[in-house]
Amino acid sequence: MLLREKVAIVVGGGQTPGETIGNGRATAIQFAREGATVVVADSDLASAQQTAEMIMAEGHSGSAVEADVRQERDISEMVQQVIDRWQQIDILHNNVGVSIAGGDARIEDITTDAFNLLVEINLRGMVLTSKHVLPHMRRAGSGSIINIASMAAIKPYPLVGYKTTKAAVIALTEQIAATHARYGIRANVILPGLMNTPMAIESRVAANKAREEVIAERDQQVPLGRKMGSAWDVAHAACFLASDKAGYITGVTLPVDGGLSVS
Ligand SMILES: NC(=O)c1ccc[n+]([C@@H]2O[C@H](COP(=O)([O-])OP(=O)(O)OC[C@H]3O[C@@H](n4cnc5c(N)ncnc54)[C@H](O)[C@@H]3O)[C@@H](O)[C@H]2O)c1
Repeated sequence: MLLREKVAIVVGGGQTPGETIGNGRATAIQFAREGATVVVADSDLASAQQTAEMIMAEGHSGSAVEADVRQERDISEMVQQVIDRWQQIDILHNNVGVSIAGGDARIEDITTDAFNLLVEINLRGMVLTSKHVLPHMRRAGSGSIINIASMAAIKPYPLVGYKTTKAAVIALTEQIAATHARYGIRANVILPGLMNTPMAIESRVAANKAREEVIAERDQQVPLGRKMGSAWDVAHAACFLASDKAGYITGVTLPVDGGLSVS
């Protein structure tokens, strides 16, 4: 049990409906399996509750809270609730991210409103959750923050909002790592590659593409086994980074991409 006696918040721990499991939900479940008490935060309370119920059905400790990362008050209240109930926050896992769903577009077509929304959700949200959690981690003299960016941050990607906000998430993570090492706090960022998750697949199927075609096109781009990763691959990486086994690792950008970034 890698995370025994730790309290974790998974922001964006619900998921887009679909046939497979999402990164946030899988990570919340895996944290719980490794012994953590998991608070699942999401703007979609029903979806967060579903994750918490899956955790509890396995006999682990999970609860759900409604929080929209665009609202600083939601974040501060969520953090206070966790502190009131458990007196500690050991792990902050920032999973929230949107692209097409936030109106993302190529630079020629992006609107100010869509770009602002992507910055609010993908980047400012992580700034604000970290802002409110860090004082508690500083007081404890320890903590692990894991941010979810994307391979899109470092590889060519056509849509400007997602590309730039995910690249900024790497910079944010490095800054937290650099400024908080002295407090025993670590910050690392995961870059998922092509994953078989509802977020990635359902939007493309909804755009009138056959599911098998979407999956085959993505699978064949992946060097390792010619197969997309799953949310569990991200969850296992996050568990390691959250745990004391990664106690000397901070400021790291970790691809979970089946070799995409080096091919
Ligand atoms: N699936 C992939 O192929 C892939 C690839 C690279 C990176 N990623 C990254 O993984 C993360 C998402 O993975 P997932 O599979 O869990 O996606 P998901 O869409 O299933 O889950 C994201 C959750 O975030 C919640 N959310 C959205 N806006 C919010 C807001 N304003 N406040 C609070 N919650 C909000 C949604 O309700 C949803 O439950 C994103 O950061 C994404 O950029 C995914």
